[in-house]
Amino acid sequence: QQHIAVFTSGGDSPGMNAALFGIAKKAEQSGMRLSGIRKGYEGLIDGDLVPLDTHKLQKMAHRGGTILKTARSKRFLMLEGRQRALENLKKNDVDALIAIGGDGTFKGLLAFSEICDLPFIGIPGTIDNDISGTDYTLGFDSAVNTAIENIDKIQDTAESHNRVFIVEVMGRDSGYIAIHSGLMVGADAILIPESGADFIYLLDKIKNYDSEDAFLIVISEGDEIGAELVASKIKEINTNIDLRITRMGHVQRGGNPSALDRMLGIRLGVAAVDALLKGRKNIMVGVLNNRLHSTPFEEVVKQHQINDELQGLLELFGNEKYNERIG
Ligand code: F6P
Repeated sequence: QQHIAVFTSGGDSPGMNAALFGIAKKAEQSGMRLSGIRKGYEGLIDGDLVPLDTHKLQKMAHRGGTILKTARSKRFLMLEGRQRALENLKKNDVDALIAIGGDGTFKGLLAFSEICDLPFIGIPGTIDNDISGTDYTLGFDSAVNTAIENIDKIQDTAESHNRVFIVEVMGRDSGYIAIHSGLMVGADAILIPESGADFIYLLDKIKNYDSEDAFLIVISEGDEIGAELVASKIKEINTNIDLRITRMGHVQRGGNPSALDRMLGIRLGVAAVDALLKGRKNIMVGVLNNRLHSTPFEEVVKQHQINDELQGLLELFGNEKYNERIG
């Protein structure tokens, strides 16, 4: 009987439990034995394996977070940590590994594959959506939904006071949550790490802002200028402005997964086990153009780019010059 082990790693994201359910269901149907490794790479190093029960996962598939728990492991960055992980896999007769996580998780798998021959399959799970080889990562859609729900609330108070609001959303090195949530709430400006020009447009717009309306700026936490500096530059340019900053923070990581993330979780969970059954190794399963797609780890960890269409939308809706909009 083939023994597969699965873990979740890096920041948790809504949909991870649905993916675990997909894996468990397919593994059970295929007669495989399934173990969960707790706390990501940390559990791999410590040999923290637990049996996974399909029925329990079925009951948890609609919940946010990860029942396996997760961690950001510094020890796995060291060869010694990876060697201990390898010993644990051997000791527990593990034949294959499935990992659910983001960029750091895939870099870890790539490094681990240098000393471990077992097949690894990755599932993209991060709210940041900054992974190549998939249109969506698990949790992104839920995080954007949480962001827009909360920004809508902020807009009510912003409109009532004619205030400028800077809302910082998550995205360590990427602007996906900012672009998507900013577009969907009708933000006046969207600042993301991938674009240098957006700040110039914002300053241009805000110069002519007349305090007769609210003005909403959505900024990604990864933007190199940052909410505080943006605020102080705005106040320098226009001293009449009444401005507030809201940091959305970890609320974006929590909550029950959206319909899209539940479905994506189940699809990718099943696809990961299928890939193992087909003898695939060291690939990430994702969805491109709504079809399952596999991508080698080397491609997954490459710098991810905002595509031209999204960039065009950003310029059209978020970052056009104020004068052009009212003119
Ligand atoms: O997992 C992605 C993410 O939520 C980023 O958007 C954010 O920068 C980071 O994790 C926060 O990490 P932590 O919860 O470890 O502070």
